[in-house]
Amino acid sequence: MSSHSDSQLNLIVTGGAGYVGSVCAARLLESGHRVTVVDDLSTGHRDAVPAEATFVEGDIAEVADDLLADGFDGVLHFAGKSLVGESMQAPDKYWHGNVMTTLRLLDAMRRHRTPRLVFSSTAATYGEPATIPIPEDAATNPTNTYGATKLAVDHMISSYATAHGLAAVSLRYFNVAGAYGRFGERHTSETHLIPIVLQVAAGVREQVQIFGDDYPTPDGTAIRDYIHVVDLADAHEAALFRATPGEHRIYNLGNGAGFSVKQVIETCRTVTGHQIPAVVAGRRAGDPAVLVASSERARSELGWTPRRADLAEIVADAWSFAQARFAR
Ligand code: UFG
Repeated sequence: MSSHSDSQLNLIVTGGAGYVGSVCAARLLESGHRVTVVDDLSTGHRDAVPAEATFVEGDIAEVADDLLADGFDGVLHFAGKSLVGESMQAPDKYWHGNVMTTLRLLDAMRRHRTPRLVFSSTAATYGEPATIPIPEDAATNPTNTYGATKLAVDHMISSYATAHGLAAVSLRYFNVAGAYGRFGERHTSETHLIPIVLQVAAGVREQVQIFGDDYPTPDGTAIRDYIHVVDLADAHEAALFRATPGEHRIYNLGNGAGFSVKQVIETCRTVTGHQIPAVVAGRRAGDPAVLVASSERARSELGWTPRRADLAEIVADAWSFAQARFAR
């Protein structure tokens, strides 16, 4: 993240006490930017906020208007709800937490003429893909409420950019994994594959369940595109500088390589040296068989290249984080 070190920005990072937000805040600070983290700590952790950041505890929908009056160069908006299963059971949390909150943020940005926005969108906006790898101009037919709310926000951002001159970028994350030193993934109730498998290796969980082995894939298990959280974070800084007033650009972030659930578990066995017992269970509702990104647009327009594309390296970083966390 050093190519832009001549321009240092004064930035707000919403959700900077969460997994991706904390890594991104840490990388932006290392590049010399000023960072104010806003987080209501509903799912984030106070001690995940980098020490060099200013911290404001609160809901961005409530504090944005006061805060942005101080004058910022941009907002990186990570705060939001992100669990597919929960979004089907409690959609109100997602429409309020993702759509209403971002609308209030956009209105405050417009009022105070905050010029740039980088938004955390998701591969879940596409739904079941018609083509693999998925390009940004693929049809968006989300199969769950989480994806629908993120897509609604993308539409909102497009119209604000066009009408009010906002420079905006949405980054559509595929499967984020790995860690950055002390910054990593720690959800109170974990649902993601790699952290769950590593909990088994760390001895805090007995076995991992494989959700379906009857998918139309070579080994029957679902295929995903795993991207290192540091590569993902670095795309955010590039996006801040690529953002153009009056435009809303959308970029997929993935490695363009798919790994099956069984391949992920096997890689975790190799990296950790543990047996990691696995049992086959039924499919999880709403899971597509294959999600792999085409990130050609991010490569060509952002000049972004993932540098940690090796799955074993991604798992090794997540494993170091898990070991530190679970060490007694
Ligand atoms: N899986 C298991 N067992 C588990 C957990 C997961 O087999 O205990 C499987 C899932 O069924 C899926 C794969 O592992 O096939 C990956 O599951 P994750 O829960 O780790 O991630 P998802 O692919 O469901 O979702 C993630 C993000 C979404 C994003 C999506 C895009 O959470 O926000 O990646 O690819 F939209």
